Amino acid sequence: MLRSVILAAARSSKFERFVGTAPVSRSLVRRYVAGETTADAVAAARSLASDGLLATLDYLGEDTIVAEQADATRDEYLNLLSALKAEGLSETTEVSVKLSAVGQRIDVELAYDRARQICAAAESAGTTVTIDMEDHTVTDSTIEIVNRLRQDFGDTGAVLQAYLRRTEDDCKSLATAGSRIRLCKGAYKEPETVAYQRPLDVDRSYVRSINALMAGDGYPMLATHDPRLVEIGIDRARWFDREPDSFEFQMLYGIRPAEQLRLAAEGYRMRVYVPYGDQWYGYLMRRMAERPANLAVFARSLWTR
Ligand code: FDA
Repeated sequence: MLRSVILAAARSSKFERFVGTAPVSRSLVRRYVAGETTADAVAAARSLASDGLLATLDYLGEDTIVAEQADATRDEYLNLLSALKAEGLSETTEVSVKLSAVGQRIDVELAYDRARQICAAAESAGTTVTIDMEDHTVTDSTIEIVNRLRQDFGDTGAVLQAYLRRTEDDCKSLATAGSRIRLCKGAYKEPETVAYQRPLDVDRSYVRSINALMAGDGYPMLATHDPRLVEIGIDRARWFDREPDSFEFQMLYGIRPAEQLRLAAEGYRMRVYVPYGDQWYGYLMRRMAERPANLAVFARSLWTR
């Protein structure tokens, strides 16, 4: 119930203005967001690399309805990719892109075109792009765009969400040679008709989807902080005779950092998703909704403003 309310607030511009002016929420932002500038993002990637961790950088922003804003987001990615190349970080660091930030809600073709330009810049920088997945109304359009991008850039990654009833089937059909699929639980408020609501059902779907990805020919990217699912991922990789470099784990910046280091020290590929920029509101609200303990801190921060 509380999760639903917070996720609904994640899309409210009125609540965004209210939260944005609360001073205490800034310290919460710092836990989950690496900074505001390209230099902050590059510094975070460098620091993770020195700890043996991979990174995927996300320039925050979503649901753009202004074309100039979508162009500015594309330009920031181009700038970021040339900085990664110049800093010699392309081998350890890729980028994650939300299609709604480059105009998917304005014009799908323009979003495709901007995403294409980002993928071309990533290719010339020697790294890859993963396209984030947003709510279920754009699942088909997002998968279609990833499939088109993959015709030109074979390594463009997709994200699938275990809470969607369709995802096990999507895993089976997308886990082809050369594909890179990030599997997460899913972070949006979705109706019962399309998504499992009970956490246990989401976890079961996640396990079935791990099996489908590990059995396939692609490169599975298991994005979860859930210790049981990490253990099941390790077990399934063994069962399907996967070499340690044929799959990876992924976690979010600021969440379970000790576990990130532990998995890397044990020889697993571990990638950290690093958001940066000043459009942190929607991202922060989804993190708050994931954990009741966070909600209490967050509510206090608004109450004491
Ligand atoms: P779960 O929420 O059950 O958490 C398991 C444990 O992890 C918790 O008990 C707690 O210890 C810790 N934890 C989890 N969230 C926490 C938090 N916010 N603060 C502190 N501790 C926390 N979603 C989406 O819809 N589209 C996408 O494109 C992506 N992309 C993405 C990339 C990567 C790399 C990751 C790791 C996640 C995503 N997600 C996402 C988010 C994902 O769908 C999901 O909401 C979160 O990962 C939380 O789910 P868990 O699997 O961690 O399990």
